[in-house]
Amino acid sequence: MDNLKYTEAQNLLSQFEARSMHGQLPIYWKSAKGGIVKDHNNKKYIDFTSTIFVTNIGHSNRYIKNAIRSVLNSNLIHSYTYLNKYRVNYLKELVEFCGDPFEKAYLASSGTEATETALKLIRMYGLKVAKKNKPGIISFKGNYHGRTMGSFMMSGFPDSKWWIGYEDPNIHFMDFPYPWEVNEKKGKDFFNKQISKLEAQGVNFKKDISGIMLETFQGWGALFYPKSFIEELTVFCKKNEILVCFDEMQAGFYRTGMKFGFEHYGIKPDIICIGKGMSSGLPLSGVVSTQQVLDLPSQGELSSTNSANPLVCSVGLATIRYMNKRSFITRLRSNCEIFKEKLDEIKEEFSDQIDISGNGMIMAIIFKSLDGNPDIELTNKIVDRLIYNGLIVVKTGRESIKLGPPLNIKKNHLIKGLDILKKSIKEELSDTVQ
Ligand SMILES: Cc1ncc(COP(=O)(O)O)c(C=O)c1O
Repeated sequence: MDNLKYTEAQNLLSQFEARSMHGQLPIYWKSAKGGIVKDHNNKKYIDFTSTIFVTNIGHSNRYIKNAIRSVLNSNLIHSYTYLNKYRVNYLKELVEFCGDPFEKAYLASSGTEATETALKLIRMYGLKVAKKNKPGIISFKGNYHGRTMGSFMMSGFPDSKWWIGYEDPNIHFMDFPYPWEVNEKKGKDFFNKQISKLEAQGVNFKKDISGIMLETFQGWGALFYPKSFIEELTVFCKKNEILVCFDEMQAGFYRTGMKFGFEHYGIKPDIICIGKGMSSGLPLSGVVSTQQVLDLPSQGELSSTNSANPLVCSVGLATIRYMNKRSFITRLRSNCEIFKEKLDEIKEEFSDQIDISGNGMIMAIIFKSLDGNPDIELTNKIVDRLIYNGLIVVKTGRESIKLGPPLNIKKNHLIKGLDILKKSIKEELSDTVQ
């Protein structure tokens, strides 16, 4: 079994695993360390994905491996929701890491569980504390919050909800302020127009809406909202006793150059949903908020079998402690500068056919044809060429690729990856023109 070739391995998976999991880039992973992935032919790739913005402090980080080893050596791999030292230490340091105004956290295993939990907390808050008539929630068209029912109901993809069979009348959607439609000056106005539009549809914000759920940036294009839009939203929510919840799954834990992505907007949300980069690869997610919000469910109303187990807590703690090191922040700052500088050069060189968006160490390149239309075919060809040339990027299935190297990637790997990116785009564009 160990020496299976790529096609044999892929055929076996197709036979035994649900189809939905397949369709990834054709790389048969053997090992991964730092910013480098090795396949079964020992071909090396520079990883500009951190799997999917998870291994933010590098694959197989020494501190993470040591944390796992220490739990294994302690003979305490699971204790359900009984007290254990790993859980105590981690929750304390996690809440401190998140900072003001956060006071408590609830841990789960996947991102979708975290956003489901936030949905529940928001609804409970609306009914119990703010005494609303309905547990209403607003989210955004085109945003994503997970695959399970509640989180997918909050996601803005109406065509993919056929299997749900009904629409929750208490979940409403706003248009996303795409940067090519809404600039900084228009952000406030755009927000107020969205409010008027929903009011015209019968939504009463004061009486019926308990929370707004936002992806910190819209995923496929790493598209941030105008700051003025979020500022207006925050003021509006405060006035109407509506909780603001940021889904920081991709953005959190320094991915955008700041500890949390919401910091780019200069505001403080009431709730954050976290996952991915918080645990360097072990299944861990969470919801962080105030005591008032997190203690709304009574004992037992919020729990999960594997939540906060010793293994994930010790890895979560090692991740935070690593990120608290000055050397990590210094490397991050320097990597962010290199990343931006080189991507700006790429944007300038191919400005007819690409746009680049994002912040810090999460960037998206959006490809268009020479007549200005989204070009998915070109995007896919570039992804193939990148793999051939030894660089892994996130294929979004749309006209974009996403770039998210480990935050502490070595300088030479970062520069080499960016050179491969530039070379591959150049090769593909000159092939297409011929
Ligand atoms: C913004 C956002 N929210 C929620 C999720 C769901 O996380 P998970 O796949 O761990 O359930 C994701 C996953 O990609 C995400 O990007």
